[in-house]
Amino acid sequence: MAAVVLVGAQWGDEGKGKITDYLAEKAQVVVRYQGGSNAGHTVMVGEEEFKLHLVPSGILYPGRLCLIGNGVVVDPAILVQELDGLAERGIDTAGLRISSRAHLILPYHKGLDAAQEEHRGAAQIGTTRRGIGPAYVDKTARTGIRVGDLLDWPVFREKLAPNLIAVNELLAKIYDQPGYDLEAILDEYAGYARRLEPLIADTGRLVNEALNDGRRVLFEGAQGTLLDLDQGTYPFVTSSYPTAGGACIGAGVGPTRIDKVIGVVKAYTTRVGAGPFPAEITGAAGDLLREQGREYGTTTGRPRRCGWLDTVILRHAAQVNGLTGIALTKLDVLTGINPLRICTGYRYRGSIIQDFPASLEALQQCEPVYEEVPGWQEDITAARSLAELPGACRSYVRRLEELTGVPVHLIAVGPRRDQTIVVEEIF
Ligand code: IMP
Repeated sequence: MAAVVLVGAQWGDEGKGKITDYLAEKAQVVVRYQGGSNAGHTVMVGEEEFKLHLVPSGILYPGRLCLIGNGVVVDPAILVQELDGLAERGIDTAGLRISSRAHLILPYHKGLDAAQEEHRGAAQIGTTRRGIGPAYVDKTARTGIRVGDLLDWPVFREKLAPNLIAVNELLAKIYDQPGYDLEAILDEYAGYARRLEPLIADTGRLVNEALNDGRRVLFEGAQGTLLDLDQGTYPFVTSSYPTAGGACIGAGVGPTRIDKVIGVVKAYTTRVGAGPFPAEITGAAGDLLREQGREYGTTTGRPRRCGWLDTVILRHAAQVNGLTGIALTKLDVLTGINPLRICTGYRYRGSIIQDFPASLEALQQCEPVYEEVPGWQEDITAARSLAELPGACRSYVRRLEELTGVPVHLIAVGPRRDQTIVVEEIF
């Protein structure tokens, strides 16, 4: 199997960093295909913790080709900071390449993100304020500036100047905010241009060549299915396509090249930011899960809202991504919670529905329907096979497979690389 897409099956924060890291050992190429520095992937190497925002997690293995694809929006300030941080810790970043077609995040995208959030008042989306939405708006409005433009300075200036006139007017007249200075941005970005120039490449060609040569390629999704612009809980979504189809568009490969799509599923559900969340656990029980699972945002530090495993969401994820397998994460966090609950459907206007509703208004009215299952007390962090898991734990995994129709291939029983049960090899 040569091409595997890894997607978040819930609202992001499923523990994709750990699974990517596990798969990157066997992959030769790792590609990010959407999102930007709103993502935060935590990877443990031994006792050392790495938090990555833009650089594909594969960078932690020497010799991997790591690509930032055309579908990513790149904040060069954060990228340079991340590269410096990795170098300081002795990680070789020579294998990184950035698509010349990827769009740049400019300072005004971050300013607009914050100003628009403030302006929304009670209707805030709860964005990471990293400029993601405004950068994708510019991309679709065809006023974006791309990474490749850093290589042609007169063109960069020519594109930036009219954008700034429009943005400054918008900031002053609508949001009552100060504007941005052209020369200051040019100065700052000239530095990034010098630094990033050797890394800019046609990453679509590189990934297709790798596939032609039979090399193993991992497409590393950020965020998750319910944050997808079309398939998620719109408008409480991000502005890109984290679902599997996004990998083709955002990496520049055809759908016929993809062999497997793995959904990363956390053993319970979490969400950051606003919006409906039917299986949410409020009060002390939710707080306990947050503490046990260390559920605080990697990028923003915000506490995550916690809830029970919701298989309505997972059936939706299985469908829209064409999942061929599941990587189940953080199963150890559920140890000691008894009984456990699994959401199997929603009660909506007097009837039980099995499908995830498209309308946010409908979702807001949905009541979760739960199945209670026994929990387990045993520490499972040392288990390395299904047989070593307590019976109740194995039943939980089996029930997840039955309710989603997707087989579980990997189970994470702790944050470290070795704390993984392989049910079926993915590469
Ligand atoms: P944005 O992507 O910063 O525009 O934020 C839009 C929504 O996506 C907000 O609810 C964020 O909390 C959420 N979001 C963005 N990136 C992530 C992520 O990596 N994990 C979880 N939620 C995210």
